[in-house]
Amino acid sequence: MAKKQARIVVVGSANVDLTTFTDQFPKPGETLFGKSFDLGFGGKGANQAVAATYCGADAHMVARVGDDLFGPATIKNFKRLGVGTKHVKTVKGVSSGVAPIFVEANGQNRILVVKGANDKLTPKAVNKAESLLKKADMIVMQFEIPLETIYHTVKLAKRHNIPVILNPAPAMQVELDKIQSVDYFIPNESEAEAITGKKVKTVDDAKTCAAFLMSKGLRRVILTLGEQGALLANRDGMELVPPFKVKAVDSTGAGDAFIGSFAVFLGEGYDERDAIARANLYAAISTTGIGTQKSFIKRRRFEREWKKRSS
Ligand code: RIB
Repeated sequence: MAKKQARIVVVGSANVDLTTFTDQFPKPGETLFGKSFDLGFGGKGANQAVAATYCGADAHMVARVGDDLFGPATIKNFKRLGVGTKHVKTVKGVSSGVAPIFVEANGQNRILVVKGANDKLTPKAVNKAESLLKKADMIVMQFEIPLETIYHTVKLAKRHNIPVILNPAPAMQVELDKIQSVDYFIPNESEAEAITGKKVKTVDDAKTCAAFLMSKGLRRVILTLGEQGALLANRDGMELVPPFKVKAVDSTGAGDAFIGSFAVFLGEGYDERDAIARANLYAAISTTGIGTQKSFIKRRRFEREWKKRSS
């Protein structure tokens, strides 16, 4: 079980997810019936904070929500789940972040994010949370907030010697020299492709891509490869950490389940290979349920599954 409780601070996004399950996508001008619909709390930052809380961390959000119906509901959801909300504030005259999501019969998703209030999370807002950030075991960020806020937080974390996990999702053109000090850079295949311009289909492609990122000064890269596992690249070399087989129904949020749980396992003191193996299982299990946060499991259940499946 947990070696020590990890304190995780997520500087990131909160959205409301509007998920439609369908076998077929409409063509332009066409109307089709979808199979079912799910409304839930999401946003890559929020999902990662919830996964971290479920895994047993003392997790906090630094985030912005809109002054619409979704804003107060999002804050209430964080409170209900035990995520710290002292630095989650409402921005007047702006909508909350929302994400219309489409899930195909095989569990594959397509997501459109409207950033809304997430775009108002400024460097100044991060400075206001400095006393919380400097006590973190790990700061976790994604790309659904302004890039200048990410660059600023990376510098702040370096000043206080706090490890940073950066999940460049969704992909954006990032100035790699401004994020070199992050401890873990964790893209999936499509994000790695978009950032490096190198295709990532096979494990060998992933190795080439990770080597390229390392050559740009990043210290550790974990490339998540879905059903192929996760590739760890550090200064000692590269290792593919194998996946766990499950019957997936909805892969939405699996990347967030990986990041949130990985931050906790690492923060608790597991070595990075073990932390990745555990996060692989946590993420795989999340694909067996629908929705994002709704598909995340609590630590006790995770440990039972780990015991059964890791030997
Ligand atoms: O990673 C899944 C998340 O991406 C969803 O919850 C959606 O809000 C988008 O941010």
